[in-house]
Amino acid sequence: MADLDFFSDTDFENYKRLIYKESGIVFTPGNRSVLEGRLRERLRQNKEQSVSNYFKQISQNKQELDAFLDAITTNLTSFFRNIPHFTALEKFVIPEIINAKRDKVEKKIRIWSAGCSTGEEPYTIAMLLSEKLPMPWTFDIVASDISLKCLMTGKEGFYAADRIVGIPDAYLEKYFDKHEKGFKAKDFIKSKIRFDYHNLLNISPWLNFDIVFCRNVLIYFDEAVQTQVTNHFWDCMTNKSFLFIGHAESLFGLNTKFDLVKTQWTTLYKKWVS
Ligand SMILES: C[S@@+](CC[C@H](N)C(=O)[O-])C[C@H]1O[C@@H](n2cnc3c(N)ncnc32)[C@H](O)[C@@H]1O
Repeated sequence: MADLDFFSDTDFENYKRLIYKESGIVFTPGNRSVLEGRLRERLRQNKEQSVSNYFKQISQNKQELDAFLDAITTNLTSFFRNIPHFTALEKFVIPEIINAKRDKVEKKIRIWSAGCSTGEEPYTIAMLLSEKLPMPWTFDIVASDISLKCLMTGKEGFYAADRIVGIPDAYLEKYFDKHEKGFKAKDFIKSKIRFDYHNLLNISPWLNFDIVFCRNVLIYFDEAVQTQVTNHFWDCMTNKSFLFIGHAESLFGLNTKFDLVKTQWTTLYKKWVS
């Protein structure tokens, strides 16, 4: 396998432009080596030697383009990642939503984990709500990503032993079965989550979310795409709903209608209209 000495500045520009157009993900000269590494791996898997031939393939073949986009995404995640978000979910967001929806016949809370990676975030939410939601309230979760590989892991619900760090022992016992090499989510908790492919550049096919989690995803986009994506969220959220983004992310300066909410645990955003 030749190395990518021939990944010229023009190649970089071509790949960068295509990735941005198709996923919103921004590569800069500062993280060019990340792209090169992931591209090299994809070429190796495809037994393809030429960066420019491969560029032609992904420009013409949607299936290979999707596989390439999957390969260049960063999927870092963990269970109970950033605990203050989950404390705010339990102690602030859920009571607010239950109050706002108290006259509704259907006692159900709808949540979207957008950019869910391998599923640790939606499983964390599912375990927490199963424990904390008062009767007769129920919930369902849509978990989406552009990485099909990640979605398959989420759907399967199997996590190696070193990945389950962060799950309290009592939850692990209740919601997972122990296997030789790891832990598998039990069917009743899996059934609360629907994993589905969705590119956040597109309008949401789903509606009426009370809570959206989109954490550590906006960071890969520029301001134009961040604005587009958050405005899509606005359109598919109920009139009294909340948005969590990553603790290193902010909507400050973006042209969106969300209001900042400061709780004692974390800041988040709300859509609160009548
Ligand atoms: C770092 S992970 C964040 C996972 C989880 N939300 C968390 O905070 O732990 C970012 C995820 O965003 C997904 N992603 C990036 N661009 C996307 C897009 N345009 N549409 C949907 N998902 C995207 C990636 O595939 C990746 O799985």
